[in-house]
Amino acid sequence: MAVTIPVKEFAERRRKLMDRMAPDSIAILPAAPERVRNRDVLHPFRQDSDFQYLTGFGEPEAVLALIPGREHGEAVLFCKERNPEKELWDGFLVGPEGAIERYGFDDAFPIADIDDILPGMIEGRSRVYYPLGKDPAFDNRVMDWLKVIRSKVRSGAHPPGELVALEHLLHDMRLYKSAAEIKVMAKAGQISAEAHCRAMKRARQGGYEYNLEAELIHTFMEHSARSTAYPSIVGGGANGCILHYIENAAPLKDGDLVLIDAGCELECYASDITRTFPVSGKFSPEQKALYEVVLAAQYAAIDAVKPDNHWNQPHEAALRVLTQGLIDLGLLAGTLDDALANESYKPFFMHRTGHWLGLDVHDVGDYKVGDAWRVLEPGMALTVEPGLYIAPDNTDVEPRWRGIGIRIEDDVVVTKEGCRNLTEGVPKTIADIEALMAD
Ligand code: GLY
Ligand code: MN
Ligand code: MN
Repeated sequence: MAVTIPVKEFAERRRKLMDRMAPDSIAILPAAPERVRNRDVLHPFRQDSDFQYLTGFGEPEAVLALIPGREHGEAVLFCKERNPEKELWDGFLVGPEGAIERYGFDDAFPIADIDDILPGMIEGRSRVYYPLGKDPAFDNRVMDWLKVIRSKVRSGAHPPGELVALEHLLHDMRLYKSAAEIKVMAKAGQISAEAHCRAMKRARQGGYEYNLEAELIHTFMEHSARSTAYPSIVGGGANGCILHYIENAAPLKDGDLVLIDAGCELECYASDITRTFPVSGKFSPEQKALYEVVLAAQYAAIDAVKPDNHWNQPHEAALRVLTQGLIDLGLLAGTLDDALANESYKPFFMHRTGHWLGLDVHDVGDYKVGDAWRVLEPGMALTVEPGLYIAPDNTDVEPRWRGIGIRIEDDVVVTKEGCRNLTEGVPKTIADIEALMAD
């Protein structure tokens, strides 16, 4: 599917990164490698998120070099050459000429020639930015290119003095989503919301967790989102208490809740939604009581997502509501302040209330600046996902509560006034869920 992020936006990102780089430096970034699944079957190819962000170029076996001030072009792509015989088997290749014409690179070369060309581009640059330590094979290649330059010092070559991790500059840029990125993320959120609605409507006793997983995938694929952003979690009953449950193989039982945490990936952007609903279509009194607490916590956290609040404020807001709710239901003893101070809520809520969201589901970007929580600014995208999990073997609580796991998760983007919910297309109040399931 065509990229809807305009080609010129990728060029602007490269420009912005080059403006942040030290003078006389070069940045080198490889595409993701292809990975073998078994024998001669490969995993579906997924571009490296940093490479995607700077290029929009979807092929493996490519390397981007950014060389500020280079006379013959600053943004250079090494990629596979066109090859009619190969393309007959494996499909269209863009090729170096296509990379310039269609993707806006200033210059492009066959990847087969990189060892001959790239050392000459690095030579004379004082600093090399690259994803240091991310992939040992690429680390070795960079070292090999440097060795070529070092072998020529007696002929006057200048090897770079500094190797610097590229992530620091790049990941701060990725944290602020552009209008075009938000558009893609909103579309991903809309598709995932529709998929959750479909799963809710089709949940029936007698089915298996994987039947609901199939419903999700159906909607994702129908809208061209060929991949999930992460393995879907479909946990019936006590499986909803396992945070990263992906077995999805148990039968769904009347009287149980089912927790679905699933989102599609669209043009490499993730969506990430969780809803929890009763298999029968009707919440029991205990499920209802706990659900209302989680929902109130999620509303409180979403209210705290606004400019000038810091990263931890939504978490703190959710924590207060969840903990007070546990006390009110008799699941926790003591006062709110005591419970917060001694973290007695932790057996019931053991994860954070959210994470950055973008090209990666747990997206890049610092959560703290120095020792202080990061202040929220327009364009930052994050999830809001409080939950309560009453372990099936928790003998400190009455049996009627045990094995109930609830999480409610939406994707929001910080705006000037507060935040915009990208995933509100799937119901989350008890009345709305029961109405949809009865429909
Ligand atoms: N689905 C992964 C998460 O919610 O963080
Ligand atoms: Mn999730
Ligand atoms: Mn999440």
